[in-house]
Amino acid sequence: MLRFAKRIPDRCSGYNTCEEIVACPAGKLFSEDLCFGCGACQLACPGNAVRMLKRTKTKDVEIKVNAERFWVPERITIKAALEFIGYKFSSFPEKDSIFAPCSVGGCYSCAVLVNGELMPSCVTGIKEGMEISTELPEDYVPKRIVHSWMGHPVGGVGTPWWLKGDRYIEVACFACGCNLRCPQCQNWTTTYCGKDRALSPFEAARITTYMRKVYRVNRMAISGGESTLNRRWLLNYVKALKELNQDSDARIHIDTNATILTRDYIDALVDAGMTDIGPDLKGLKVETFMRITGIENRELAERYLRTSWDAFRYLVDNYKERLFIGIGIPYNRVLISMEEIIRIGEEVAKIDDSVQVCVLDYRPEFRNVKIPRPSYTEMLDVWKALKGVGLKTVICQTSHGHIGP
Ligand code: FES
Repeated sequence: MLRFAKRIPDRCSGYNTCEEIVACPAGKLFSEDLCFGCGACQLACPGNAVRMLKRTKTKDVEIKVNAERFWVPERITIKAALEFIGYKFSSFPEKDSIFAPCSVGGCYSCAVLVNGELMPSCVTGIKEGMEISTELPEDYVPKRIVHSWMGHPVGGVGTPWWLKGDRYIEVACFACGCNLRCPQCQNWTTTYCGKDRALSPFEAARITTYMRKVYRVNRMAISGGESTLNRRWLLNYVKALKELNQDSDARIHIDTNATILTRDYIDALVDAGMTDIGPDLKGLKVETFMRITGIENRELAERYLRTSWDAFRYLVDNYKERLFIGIGIPYNRVLISMEEIIRIGEEVAKIDDSVQVCVLDYRPEFRNVKIPRPSYTEMLDVWKALKGVGLKTVICQTSHGHIGP
């Protein structure tokens, strides 16, 4: 808990992405004196150029938590202070703990009231006299960092294949923070971003609605990072979009890793107005899932993987007629074997052979820059293999455009 971040100059690329995306609670990265030890800069560094070192004992400061007085070490985060006095945090939403999946200040799932203001506990530093409330009022307005609204000609996993083309078909925004730690993350400046202003669901929905008009599209997508992390925020965002876009052409599309997408969450999203969804299935074996996602805790990885497959089954069983469902499968021979891809295909075909399957070619990115990008021929082999197990609609992303369906 008592730690500080140290930059390793030899490994640092000097691009300073960390300065741009990390919500450093000290206000100055890599200052040993000021660092609160949140670790967000370590997570965000593509070059592994940050080490967390142990700090020797600091003095204690007095804070109030839910009106009770406590003494905690200075120069730690609110999350660390709450853990110090006995609060539990989790990486899967649980009843008796605070959900803290991203740890970089992007998702605001871990938010608490700090002197009356909603702040992410994972990247907010403790200060003498701070008053913290973990009990949020019934009617509180959630926040989340969302950014990079853009028109998209291809869309995502949950975009019907027949719409993909050379014109804008969708407006998309990206929710910051993710619960996975994929070493080849393709969107890591969003995944580890905690620095932009956090928006209420209604503020974000108004921007999306405006951008829909700018790009003259009917589809409004949210991806990430991981879109589902802050459940209250997402449900209110979808409701606000529905309210602002009452025409029957409007489509609300969510792309997700599906790792926390429980059945009741799916029901709530459908009730709120979601029309299209693209869950990922990042493997069949837990070892593969761990390799692809960088999740080292096996029990957690099993739970995430199980939840994503269950979400897919539940969607097909209950909402096939009401929603457009497309699933995403990763491919790179370094990360997943062709044998496992075929087994995934067989499982998917048993559940629904007509579902849209989108195979994403995982490229050298972020910390995994040494993996080769799958060639067109490899992706063609994947496509043939999945068609061979009876899947009717398979699209493979390649360096030369899409193969399929
Ligand atoms: S876990 Fe703190 S903001 Fe995401």
